[in-house]
Amino acid sequence: VDRYAVFGNPIGHSKSPLIHRWFAEQTGQDLQYEAILAPADGFADSWRDFVAAGGKGANVTVPLKEVAFALAQIVSERAQQAGAVNTLYIDSSGQLCGDNTDGLGLVADLQRLGAKLDGAKVLLLGAGGASRGVVGPLLAAGVASVHIANRTADKAMTVAKLFNSQVTASGYGDIPTDHWQLVINATSSGLSQQRPDFSPEHLQSCQLAYDMMYGKEPTAFILWCRQHQVPLCADGIGMLVAQAAASFAIWRGVTPDITPVLEKMTTLVR
Ligand code: ATR
Repeated sequence: VDRYAVFGNPIGHSKSPLIHRWFAEQTGQDLQYEAILAPADGFADSWRDFVAAGGKGANVTVPLKEVAFALAQIVSERAQQAGAVNTLYIDSSGQLCGDNTDGLGLVADLQRLGAKLDGAKVLLLGAGGASRGVVGPLLAAGVASVHIANRTADKAMTVAKLFNSQVTASGYGDIPTDHWQLVINATSSGLSQQRPDFSPEHLQSCQLAYDMMYGKEPTAFILWCRQHQVPLCADGIGMLVAQAAASFAIWRGVTPDITPVLEKMTTLVR
């Protein structure tokens, strides 16, 4: 049986094994998928052991995405742009390849939610790895511009410089007055029940507020957006399932239907 896994640290809470087992069942694919705990400095050894034991591919999560990026021999353009790898596999010539499906997952979920991406002006909050990974796929999906706002403005500027002039940056106090149709929270503020601290005037034209985090309870950002009458607010559970589906398709050549898996996830996670 072909073996797959998710590597991370911590990894016990990961929903990926469940999601991929449901995908395998749905598509009739015979495979195993497990969670493997690995420290950053032991990841390369852990991966080699896994391959020696029949491992065909893996997902990589926090804090190993940059280590996986460094380990991969061939890196896709979108992983290059993200500076991070969340999907590993070995190609037919035996080379270790790294890809990144996080941005594809976000775009797929925004489309599922009915967001109009073509020509949209996007306000993206946060300038860490999660933010950097989604800018390229948003542009590729046709958005007109992305403004990256971050608590530490310098970090936002550094990320924006990786892209063309469609991408601008500032601190939260200097967000330009514009019609932001889509506001996406890519900060980890939700982990501490906080939200990015900016003026609600920037939500005035917002059709969809999206938090890349998810949990049993709505995040502070989602609650705040609801309070300010944003018509549609969603958390990152759909992105999680959609990035997994894109990884599954890379490994197996079959794209699973995310809808039934998302329904099961929603009843389990919430
Ligand atoms: P990730 O890989 O999840 O992006 P990261 O690289 O550590 O993690 O980045 C965390 C992001 O969340 C940063 O943009 C951080 O802002 P700073 O760069 O100013 O530190 C942001 N962040 C974390 N906690 C926050 C909070 N309470 N309010 C606003 N932004 C927060």
